[in-house]
Amino acid sequence: MRRRRFVQLAATGVLGACASMLVTPVTPVDGRVRLPLRNYPELNRPGGALRLRPDGTDQTFYVLALDDGTFAAVSPICKHQGCTVDIARDRLECPCHGSMYSREGSVLRGPTQAPLDRFPTSVTDGVLTVDLQSRV
Ligand code: FES
Repeated sequence: MRRRRFVQLAATGVLGACASMLVTPVTPVDGRVRLPLRNYPELNRPGGALRLRPDGTDQTFYVLALDDGTFAAVSPICKHQGCTVDIARDRLECPCHGSMYSREGSVLRGPTQAPLDRFPTSVTDGVLTVDLQSRV
């Protein structure tokens, strides 16, 4: 698919969840990423998600809108053998050996034995902050 058409489809929502998994670069300040929620419509609905990559790294993390209106920020790296988990509608699934995690990163099904790394989040004045230097 040509880039222009992909962007058009993504903008109109035709690509659905696929479009939301484009990697969005972000610039941390003092180890924290600040996301004005008005700029990220994906996070304004339950089930919404973003995949973000801090500048200067090749690591990404997911920010997921939860059903109760809060957010989770998790590493996409499966704790079994390090594959990248995919976002399904209500959970995260590892394509390598079938581990499943909740959207908060808790283990739902093995073979993994450990939850995904989770970063603290907070919302103040419509800005979601993710602290990448800490773990929940
Ligand atoms: S690496 Fe994820 S289940 Fe094995």
